[in-house]
Formats: sequence, C-alpha cells, structure tokens
Amino acid sequence: MSNEPILELRDVAVDFSGFRAINGLNLQVAKGELRCLIGPNGAGKTTALDVICGKVRARAGRITLMGQDITRLPEYKIARRGVGRKFQVPSVFRELTVRDNLEVAYCKRLGVFANVRRLGRSAERNDLEKLAELVGLEDVLDERAGYLSHGQTQWLEIALLLAQDSGIILLDEPTAGMTAQETMHTAKIVNALKGRHTLLVVEHDMAFVREISDIITVMHQGRVLAEGSASEIQGDPAVREAYLGQRGIAHA
Ligand SMILES: Nc1ncnc2c1ncn2[C@@H]1O[C@H](COP(=O)(O)OP(=O)(O)OP(=O)(O)O)[C@@H](O)[C@H]1O
Ligand SMILES: [Mg+2]
Repeated sequence: MSNEPILELRDVAVDFSGFRAINGLNLQVAKGELRCLIGPNGAGKTTALDVICGKVRARAGRITLMGQDITRLPEYKIARRGVGRKFQVPSVFRELTVRDNLEVAYCKRLGVFANVRRLGRSAERNDLEKLAELVGLEDVLDERAGYLSHGQTQWLEIALLLAQDSGIILLDEPTAGMTAQETMHTAKIVNALKGRHTLLVVEHDMAFVREISDIITVMHQGRVLAEGSASEIQGDPAVREAYLGQRGIAHA
C-alpha cells in the first residue's frame, strides 16, 4: 500500500437549492485501503459518494484521483477513469444470466471489439469464473440474474464493478436489507478485496464495519467529525453526541 492518496477531497462543498449538504469535506484514501464512512442520517455520506463519482457537482473545493483533478469532469468520464459506484437500486440485467452480466461488464472494460476476441479465450472464462467464486456465485453462473436472492444480487453488483476493473469502488450501504449471514458473507468478500482494490464503503451496520474496517471516517453535518479505529470512534464523546437521538452509534 503506497502512502500517496489515490483519492483526495479538499474543502469540498455541495449545495442543494441553498442547503449545504457537504460543507468543507476533507478526505484522503490511500491505494488499496478500505475506508468506512459512517455518520448519522443526513450527515452527507451518500452525497459524498455522489460528488466523487460526478453525480452531483461540487460547489467548491477540489477532488483528485491519482493526482488528477476530476472535480468538473462529467460522470461518465470519472467512471472511465476507474471510479465504480454501486447504487442502492441494482443495475444488473435481470433477463441475462449471471455469466452474461459479467461478460457485459468485461465488455465495458475492454471495448466491445476487443472483447469479441477476448472472451472466446479460455483464460478469460477462467477470470470470469474466479470472479464468480470470489463473490460466491460460482454455482449460479447460468441462472438468470432476476432469480437471484437480494444478497446474491448485491454480490453480483460488486462482481460487475470488479469485472469493469474499477480502481476505486464506492459502496453505499451494501448490506442494507441483508440477513446477518448475508452480511457476514459480504464482509468476507470485502475483506478479500483489501489491498488489491481501493474501497470507500458507507455503512450503518457497526458489526459489519468492525469486521471490515481499518480506518473509519465519521461524518456529521457535511464534514468529517472524527477518524480512527472502531474502538477510538466508539469512545469519542463528539461522535456519541452526534448520534444522540438516533439510538446511538452501537445501534446505527
Ligand atoms: N437531491 C437533494 N435535494 C435536496 N436535499 C438533499 C438532496 N440529497 C440530499 N439532500 C439533503 O442533504 C443532506 C445529506 O444527505 P445524504 O443523503 O448525503 O445523507 P446520508 O448521510 O447519506 O444519510 P443516510 O444515512 O440517511 O443515508 C440531507 O439533509 C438530505 O436531506
Ligand atoms: Mg445515504
């Protein structure tokens, strides 16, 4: 893991019709790091992911990816530079099999024509199967994506980002709606990606966060309130204060 940040936000601000949802946000994520972003409802976590991937515009500040300014790039160009975003609503093709979904994602990486030749090769098929194994979908490769369980659909989404070779992966509440068992499987997947991929994961489930996190960033009112390990964060009075009225951080 190098020390140079792959992603950096400096004094970023985002307004929604005059309401400042992000207010002087500073964040540095190192290559290969798995960063968890937590915070009470309305803290600006989703907006932070939106501004990184270009879905919303920064009113002020600067966002750099591998040292290059991406603050004013359109969303598709940021995606092309390897920022992969998983949204709450799945973007899998329900009519296609898991295998075909993964092949389509590989197409996006390679360009359609390169891909026609490439996918015929058994090496590529191996890649695809390894990827399916990594997320635990190797037994359902030939099932239609529409028949997958909620958990499996989320894992397929993560696999699609990996197939597209996203250098940095942004996940917004990946375990929402999952059973405890599915949540732990997701932790296993995410842990397996550590070091090889850079991940920024927004999550409320502290059990999950404790399983996967190195450094946790706590957001409150559009900016960083605290940063540290799970135990440092949970012992921080300012963090406890921010979560007041929301059943506390332990139940976040
Ligand atoms: N499109 C929008 N228009 C107006 N206000 C918005 C919009 N999107 C978000 N906001 C407001 O910006 C603030 C931050 O919202 P955001 O969704 O980023 O919070 P969050 O930390 O993801 O919360 P949660 O934990 O509930 O998902 C909130 O007060 C929200 O109401
Ligand atoms: Mg949110």
